[in-house]
Amino acid sequence: MKALFLAGGYGTRLRPFTFTKPKPLIDFANEPIILHQIKALHAVGVRTIVLAVNYQPSEMRKFAKEVKKELDIEIKFSLETEPLGTGGPLKLAEEYLKGNEPFFVLNSDVICDFPFADMLEYHKKNKSEGTILATKVEDPSRYGVIVHQENGKIERFVEKPQEFVGDRINAGIYILNPSVLDTIPLRWTSLEREIFPKLAKEEKIYCYHLNGFWMDVGKPGDFILGSTLYLKFISSQIKESKKVKIHGGVLIEGEDIQGAVLVPKEGRKGVQIGENCRIGPNVVIGKNVRIGNGCRLKNCTIMDGVVIGQSSYIENSIIGWGSHIGSWTRIQSHCFLGEDVTVRDECNINSLTVCPHKGVNQNIMKETIML
Ligand code: GDD
Ligand code: MG
Repeated sequence: MKALFLAGGYGTRLRPFTFTKPKPLIDFANEPIILHQIKALHAVGVRTIVLAVNYQPSEMRKFAKEVKKELDIEIKFSLETEPLGTGGPLKLAEEYLKGNEPFFVLNSDVICDFPFADMLEYHKKNKSEGTILATKVEDPSRYGVIVHQENGKIERFVEKPQEFVGDRINAGIYILNPSVLDTIPLRWTSLEREIFPKLAKEEKIYCYHLNGFWMDVGKPGDFILGSTLYLKFISSQIKESKKVKIHGGVLIEGEDIQGAVLVPKEGRKGVQIGENCRIGPNVVIGKNVRIGNGCRLKNCTIMDGVVIGQSSYIENSIIGWGSHIGSWTRIQSHCFLGEDVTVRDECNINSLTVCPHKGVNQNIMKETIML
C-alpha cells in the first residue's frame, strides 16, 4: 500500500524549532514526528511513501535515506514549485497514487496510537470513497468539524467553524480511493474546504472514530501536551503488560524519577543525570543530554545535546538542541528555546520564546519573543 504525507507549509506555528528543521522532522519523544507515522504505516504493510513538500527538501532527503536503510520502504518526493494547499499535492502526486488500491493521506503533525489496520478494515467494509479518522476535542473551532450519522456517514464537513457545529473533528488522517483524485484540480486547493464538503454532500465519505489519545503537535504548547499524552499512554500500556513499541527510547525508573521519563534507547548510559535530581513526570530527554546535580524537571522536552547546570528548575517548556542552561535557573510556563540558546546562571524566565543561537541574560516574567 501507499501513503502520502502532507509535509509542506512552513511550520510557522512551531517556531522557533522550525527555524532549524522542517516541521515533520522535529523530534517528538526523541524521534522525528513523521517517523512515528511511517513506522506505524510500515507495520500495516505500507511500502511506498510519497512526501509532498514545497521547499528544498535537502534535510528531508537525508532523512529519507536513513529511513530506507532501516525499513524496507520506498520514499518518493513530490515537490511543489508553489504551495498547493492540502488538496493540490494529491493531484500533483497522482502518478504515484493511482491504481486499484486505496491509499493513506496524513497531516505530518499528528500523533496518536495510529489505528491503521482497523481503519482500513472499516474503509473496505463501507465501500466508501474515503474514510476520515475522527476524534473528540474540547475546542473544535481550531480544527475541521465532522457532522455524521450514526453509521459514520459524514453529512457535513466544516473547517475551522466560527460557530459551534459539533465536537467530533478531523484527526488529519485519511484513507482515500484513487477515484477521489479525479475530483481534485491541479492548483492550490484545500481538502478540508473544497473536497471533503463535496464528498459529504454526495454521501461518499465516512469517519472512523479514534479511541485513545490524539494531538496535533504543530504548536509548541500542543507539542508539550501531546508529549504528556504519549508518555502517559505508553506507561499505562506497560503497566497493563500490553505490547507497546516505544520507538524513541526507553522509560527509566529510579529514586530520582517520577512517572514517565523517556531517555534514548541506551537508557541512563545515553544521558547524564546528576545527584539529587527529581525528574518527571512526563519528561523527554534526548541524546547526550547532561543534567547537573539537584535539578527538577517536569512536563518538558529536553532535546539532543542540551547541557543543564546544577539546581535548575524546568517545567512546561521545550529546550532546543544543544542549548546551554546555566545553574540555579527557573524556566517555566511555556518557555520555548530554539537550537543553541544560552540561559545565564540564575535567570528566571516565564512564557519566553527564544530564536536559535540567542542568549538570555536577564529575568523575563511576561510573555515575550526574543528574535
Ligand atoms: N505539501 C503541502 N503543501 N503540504 C501542506 C501545505 C502545502 O501547501 N499546506 C499545509 N500542508 C501540510 C502541513 O504540513 C500539515 O501536515 C497539513 O498539511 C495540515 O496543515 P496544518 O497547517 O497543520 O493544518 P491545521 O492543523 O490548521 O488543520 C488541519 O489539521 C487538523 C488536525 O490537526 C486540517 O486538516 C483540520 O481539518 C484538522 O482538524
Ligand atoms: Mg496541524
